[in-house]
Amino acid sequence: MSVFQQCINPACGKQFGVEEVLHACSACGELLDVEYDWNKISPPIVHRARGVSPEQNVPHPHRLSGVWRFHDLLPFLPLERCITIGEGQTILQQAHRVAPFTGLNEDRLYLQYEGLNPSGSFKDNGMSAAFSHGVFVGAKKAACASTGNTSASLAIYSACTGLMQSVIFIGSGKIAYGKLSQALDYGAKTIQIQGDFDDAMARVQQVSKELGIYLVNSVNPFRLEGQKTIMYRVLEALHWEVPDWIVVPGGNLGNSSSFGKAFIELHRLGLIQKVPRLAIINAAGANTLYRLYEQEGLRWNGGNYDKKLTKKFFDQMTAEGRKASTIASAIEINRPVNLSKCLRALDFCNGVVREVSEQEILDAKAQIGAGGLGCEPASAASVAGTKKLVAEGVIEKSDRVVCILTGHQLKDPNATVAYHGTDKTFFEKTLGKSGVKTAEFANHPISVSNDLDAIVGALTEPDSSVQ
Ligand code: F0G
Repeated sequence: MSVFQQCINPACGKQFGVEEVLHACSACGELLDVEYDWNKISPPIVHRARGVSPEQNVPHPHRLSGVWRFHDLLPFLPLERCITIGEGQTILQQAHRVAPFTGLNEDRLYLQYEGLNPSGSFKDNGMSAAFSHGVFVGAKKAACASTGNTSASLAIYSACTGLMQSVIFIGSGKIAYGKLSQALDYGAKTIQIQGDFDDAMARVQQVSKELGIYLVNSVNPFRLEGQKTIMYRVLEALHWEVPDWIVVPGGNLGNSSSFGKAFIELHRLGLIQKVPRLAIINAAGANTLYRLYEQEGLRWNGGNYDKKLTKKFFDQMTAEGRKASTIASAIEINRPVNLSKCLRALDFCNGVVREVSEQEILDAKAQIGAGGLGCEPASAASVAGTKKLVAEGVIEKSDRVVCILTGHQLKDPNATVAYHGTDKTFFEKTLGKSGVKTAEFANHPISVSNDLDAIVGALTEPDSSVQ
């Protein structure tokens, strides 16, 4: 087999065919990877190593996909079976105007703006891959649990292609309206269960098993193949010069896991010599990874990570009835399904994990917006985390840092309007209860009467915020 699925536990390593639909190893229960025998599929890779981009030879429409133009690095299906709706047309931007906020030198901060995807988040990178696999295995229905972006992404692929119907499970809590509106608008069957994302995630796994529905959450190893391409585009933009740091928000830990796999493979293939360090940023109200990795010392340990420790941690969470809670609703997750893969990524990339407060997230979000790339709160955790790591001296001012802006600003306008607006009641209702006290970087709208002199006066006042 030149392409197969394989248990990530080195002590098990059981292999499965690419046509099988699995979410875990049937022998030991660990997560699965999609693996390739590169010796059998190497010619394009050789070109890439010589600096020739094989994507030049990828025909339309796949050439326009930021995922499939890298097909040679995720060749689990023939290209003609790979579904695209134009995902991954995103670019890395140097963020001169945001860098000073983080403490980095002005030319050292880069933002990878994944909000430009068709459904407005990075999820489309992975969805194009998982959706292609689902269609390949003959599935008629696909399901996911979601804090909103995975569901928007599944819904758009279903609606655009008509190839699988979508069923989405969302918690009854804090899904942002931008995301909910997408799922409804694209016609997804939407099940709002009483509970949070972690509850929905547990249920969707049961339901999809029982009804034979194809699951597209990130326990699906094909999804993570698509998300590797975010790193390929970052490297491409930097002329394959590896940055010092990749900083990414952590929720279900699919992105960080897929980035780790991308670097493991690129390194093994000799396409990069240096490995970037990985920083994963939790919201303080959903900080399982931070607590386990930084406080309890949990490590990958060659695949033999301390399962007793994780079990004790989650048992205690259940006993205490501890639920995730953050304004960054996309990462409001306490039981990340990709924890073990993420530990592997942290190990390979000499990673660190930090938690950031709601205030830090919203201040960073305002600064990112002022720099021209609006994002949703979860995405801003990456920049807030960078600021923290620079202040600690873990990231040097002169390090080249890439933050992943995972979702578009319009996904969650409430948080933005509450922060910048002048309505104190709305501020309190939306942000106050999560401990946000100030809006230091707010760009308040100016109220004026409908009168020329008053408007001119407002625009010419020395402290006018109009620029
Ligand atoms: N940022 C955004 C905007 C997200 O939507 C998510 C995850 C993350 C970060 C975290 O990424 O799970 O790979 O660590 N959203 C999922 C969803 C859980 O259902 O849309 P992760």
